[in-house]
Amino acid sequence: MAKLHPDLQNKPRRRVNSLRGREFWYKGITLIPNRLPDFERDEVDLATNFTKRVILKTPFVSAPMDTVTEAEMAILMALMGGIGVIHYNFLTIDEQIEEAEKVKRFQAGFVFSPVVLSSKNTIRDVYNINEKYGFFSTPITEDGTLNSKLVGIVTRRDVRYRKDMDTKLSKVMTPREKLIVAKKSETVDKNDLRATNKIIKKNNLDTLPIVDADDKVVALVTDSDLQKNEQFPLATKNSNKQLRVFIAVESRLKLAQERIKKAITAGVDGIIIDASVVFREQLEIAKWVKQNFPKLEVVVGNVDSSEMVEKIMEEGFKYCDAIKVGIGPGAACITQQELGTGRAQASAVWDCVKAAKKLEKKYGFLPIIADGGIRIADTIDQDIAKPGDITKALALGAQTVMMGSLLAGLDESPGEKEFDYEENRMVKKYRGMGSIEAMEKRGALRYGIEKMKVKIPEGKVIKVPYRGSGYDFIPKLIAGVKQSFQKQGFRNIKELQEEADIRPI
Ligand code: XMP
Repeated sequence: MAKLHPDLQNKPRRRVNSLRGREFWYKGITLIPNRLPDFERDEVDLATNFTKRVILKTPFVSAPMDTVTEAEMAILMALMGGIGVIHYNFLTIDEQIEEAEKVKRFQAGFVFSPVVLSSKNTIRDVYNINEKYGFFSTPITEDGTLNSKLVGIVTRRDVRYRKDMDTKLSKVMTPREKLIVAKKSETVDKNDLRATNKIIKKNNLDTLPIVDADDKVVALVTDSDLQKNEQFPLATKNSNKQLRVFIAVESRLKLAQERIKKAITAGVDGIIIDASVVFREQLEIAKWVKQNFPKLEVVVGNVDSSEMVEKIMEEGFKYCDAIKVGIGPGAACITQQELGTGRAQASAVWDCVKAAKKLEKKYGFLPIIADGGIRIADTIDQDIAKPGDITKALALGAQTVMMGSLLAGLDESPGEKEFDYEENRMVKKYRGMGSIEAMEKRGALRYGIEKMKVKIPEGKVIKVPYRGSGYDFIPKLIAGVKQSFQKQGFRNIKELQEEADIRPI
């Protein structure tokens, strides 16, 4: 484990004096370089465990907040090697699941159960699909479901310049007899994507439908997916080359069960049981998931003390795949002020990691997610790549960092950018999920108070600087983290965590 300066170490409890120097935030610590680096920044490897089984190439997670993570953000994060967690502050469960489906459909090897239409549908229906999911290629079947034979296909080329929205697809589709298709037995059954790639390249196709012996569509492979696979080498994908995505669920068993069943159908990779402070029922939910859907990863939280980690590991190690740490450090949080609950985030991470490490021999490895409190310089003229807090969180032992305010200013977060005349710059709105405004949208289940008449806010609404496209911003942030590793001579997270020299500023 990394070395912690004595001033930062825990002293016996209950002695008020001992509190001095005990609790520390990221800004209160620094990492002292004491190696002679002999490698370049780009050689640093940031691969890490998000959960027991989900590995990321970039240790970044976007927070389940309604001004941070819906499909667009989750796609960005997964393409960059991190992962997004879709919030649940929607009016219906289906709306949340649709966002997860967009991520799953975004980029795949085999797109199973593709959206299909019938030849009686119109060009407008194809545009509607494009608006909802972002793609055009649609197989046409006899009755517009996957249960009938393939009769044609419509791709972007067929509709891109068309204004006649009411024209039937029978007039624009490429009919079955002119279609090149691949057989399920030669591709999907052998899990052989290369075979499909060859057919696409050889015939210069946009889309290749895959059919079974009855000529029913079982999957699609598209050329744009092949290109995306090459463009984003860090992307977080499952074995079918679909982007991975997690969703947030509530801490109440009955409510969570309904959401989880739908999430399974959508192919979601894992859930975060979301609460500002971990709730006992989370362990019941985790157990239920592992008994019914053992492949679904489960994250519990939030915690901020070694005691909480110990209890979770003792009672629920088998059912939990990561623990989220952070009570009230977030930029839009007021839990600490309002409820006197929470602690300085760097101390919280350090203590929780220590507890997880102590119990690792007995139970096994449980990754820690450092949630909230990651800040970078945010005035317009400052370089954005100053990711010291991220490196500090990782040095303290977290496997990944979850971020809200840092990502809320990107184009890919929900909401519009606007000009702030007071600050003379472009901003986006960012709100705590425990703010009155967010609570009013749905019901504040994260805070367990949806049925209570008196609502005590645990979050506020703020403005964050507009940061432009995440496709420019995140690569710089990754480079910045790698640079701070390189300055200290650490090639990867394991070395940093074993050797970092953490001192008070
Ligand atoms: P940052 O600092 O990255 O923090 O903006 C994101 C995290 O903040 C938490 N969160 C809240 N905490 N009241 C709180 O006390 C809230 O209303 C609230 N909303 C979000 C959450 O853990 C998130 O990941």
